[in-house]
Amino acid sequence: MTLELKNVSKHYRKKLALNGFTYSFSSGIYALLGPNGAGKSTLMNIIAGVIEADKGSGIFLAGRSIGELGDDYRSHIGFMPQRNALIDSFSALRFMKYISGLKGLKNTDSEIAELMKKVELYGNRNEKCGGFSGGMKQRLMLAQAMLGSPDILILDEPTAGLDPRQRVIFRNMMREYSVNNTVIVSTHIVSDIEAQADNIIIMKAGEITASGTNSALLERYGCSELEELYLKLFGEKDDTE
Ligand SMILES: Nc1ncnc2c1ncn2[C@@H]1O[C@H](COP(=O)(O)OP(=O)(O)O)[C@@H](O)[C@H]1O
Ligand SMILES: [Mg+2]
Repeated sequence: MTLELKNVSKHYRKKLALNGFTYSFSSGIYALLGPNGAGKSTLMNIIAGVIEADKGSGIFLAGRSIGELGDDYRSHIGFMPQRNALIDSFSALRFMKYISGLKGLKNTDSEIAELMKKVELYGNRNEKCGGFSGGMKQRLMLAQAMLGSPDILILDEPTAGLDPRQRVIFRNMMREYSVNNTVIVSTHIVSDIEAQADNIIIMKAGEITASGTNSALLERYGCSELEELYLKLFGEKDDTE
């Protein structure tokens, strides 16, 4: 399913966080790469329907605008926000059932069990989220985002807190999922995406600096690795705010 963004902008009061973002997503893995403050989360929150873009912005799913689709739009979207939105007092299983209800899904018991096994939390399903480690929380947030097999899966810095083995599991899940769906993943960890992403969108100050496949980008900038290209564009120091 094609997701088209046309001239999407976002102001927070006077601050322009996203400036005329225009891009067309189809199936595959799309990585948003850029320093802190580049506008990655703003873009993802807009695509997820969590915040509204400025007037004049256009978002179209399979040719139909977000406004026209209304609530139906959300049923196509799975979202893992940058900060987890777990409910500490809920068990992992209860949280999954809760999200399933919010998404209006029915008969999801077996899907929930399957997803929890995939993220290796099935054995912890009756434990409270509040007691989970950072990595367990990330994995549960990934599982809830995938509930209902959304066409567009949006993952905002999903690998934070994962150990190397879990990163591999995560990459494989992303790869498998992206065969028939769109996965949009943000990161500032280059190694998470260079071998994985079908398309890389490099962002800075709310705009696309460059986009393309890993090899096309490397060729264009005369770099041998994505890390080198990143440093070339953004300097040795991260623009951390
Ligand atoms: N709720 C907000 N209110 C005001 N400014 C914000 C808000 N959210 C983000 N910003 C600003 O918008 C810019 C983009 O932020 P963000 O989308 O979080 O970038 P990224 O995810 O790439 O780090 C930053 O300058 C940030 O300070
Ligand atoms: Mg962010």
